[in-house]
Amino acid sequence: MSQLRVRPAGALRGSITVPGDKSMSHRAVMLAAVAEGETRIRGLLRSEDVLATLGAFRALGVEAVEDGDTLVIRGHGPAALRREPVTVDLGNSGTSMRLLAGLFAGLPVDVSMTGDASLSKRPMKRVTEPLAKMGADITATAAGTAPLHVRGRKLHAIDYELPVASAQVKSAVLLAGLGAEGLTRVREPGPTRDHTERMLPCFGVEPEFEGGWIGVRGGARLTAAGEIEIPGDISSAAFFIVAGLIVPGSDITLRNVGLNPTRTGILDILRLMGANIIVENERRLGAEPVGDLRVRASRLRATVAGGDLIVRAIDEVPALCVAAARAEGTTVIRDAGELRVKESDRLAGMARILTDMGVRVRELPDGMEIDGPAELRAAEVQTHFDHRLAMAAAVAGLLAKGDTVVNEAECIGTSFPGFGDLLDFLKKVKGDE
Ligand code: S3P
Repeated sequence: MSQLRVRPAGALRGSITVPGDKSMSHRAVMLAAVAEGETRIRGLLRSEDVLATLGAFRALGVEAVEDGDTLVIRGHGPAALRREPVTVDLGNSGTSMRLLAGLFAGLPVDVSMTGDASLSKRPMKRVTEPLAKMGADITATAAGTAPLHVRGRKLHAIDYELPVASAQVKSAVLLAGLGAEGLTRVREPGPTRDHTERMLPCFGVEPEFEGGWIGVRGGARLTAAGEIEIPGDISSAAFFIVAGLIVPGSDITLRNVGLNPTRTGILDILRLMGANIIVENERRLGAEPVGDLRVRASRLRATVAGGDLIVRAIDEVPALCVAAARAEGTTVIRDAGELRVKESDRLAGMARILTDMGVRVRELPDGMEIDGPAELRAAEVQTHFDHRLAMAAAVAGLLAKGDTVVNEAECIGTSFPGFGDLLDFLKKVKGDE
């Protein structure tokens, strides 16, 4: 079990590039693997979660080779996939399990999907229920959890109104729609990340948008995208954004970060708190907006964040909590109940970490209240093998007196290999470098 030890830091300086976006990486691998032809994916995140998705397709006979920084996937369409039963271990990755459940449900495959202790506890009924309505042959445990067993077959289209704002559920139904007869449509209660809808046209499938509904017509052949380039993950960048804001004297630049509006809630919330974040060099990378973020240490003040703003920042709440601990006043986070069913119960876990580090926190059923500005003190903290809790604790440790010890820190590899090295780099750059 590895530990990450963080010492208080002087000003953070320098320019870095964070690894590729996790959500986009999963989708690029999935669509390329079932398309016909060669897709070259640049900037792919090679983290454990994404490698779990890739491993599933390798088990189904899909050829994927590394060519320098590029992953080349040679797809031969659904008919070429292995039909014999296979079992794939998806580790910690909820995105892999939920999206693949949808995609496999309409393909000629027979796949059992298992996961680690955390993934085996996460709710899967939210995908198995709509998929069953489409005629899918999919089974879960009696508790509605993994392992899932999917025997793909021809599906029929449905109209589905999502009960929770979840991009994974939306994507699972749309991907199942590729293998369904007719137009499968979903409508969501809040604006969740839209990477699936944006990426499908790169593979020759045009989603249909009407009156808040998003539709996919089944039966189309996916054609390889040629080249896909994946920008840096704003969810990974968020830890450095907060570090740059709270460590006095810091001035850092994060290059080539994805700025999809369904993902930029964290920038909006931090700006409400007085953060000095400037977007430079805004441009498009394929179907996605990107830019460079210049972040300078700022005096933060508390805010109230809830509703769509939190949906657009759902994975960044652990980082946000650390900013709140250093902001003047009481920050209130609401409408974040979904955090209780992520890789761990992130509300309970963050409340515990901050409390251990000397912050006054009150946990709410769907959020928390954090009193700032707190004098952070070093502690040995538990992450429950949750990557985002581990990185949030490490950032808090930059301001704590003494050594902060982050336990089970190997979990950071699920989304952000190299996190510790990048943090060390920013600590070492001096002055105007
Ligand atoms: C993701 C969707 C979000 C997010 C997760 C990745 C995706 O989950 O929290 O880290 O790639 O579609 P929900 O669909 O549960 O909101």
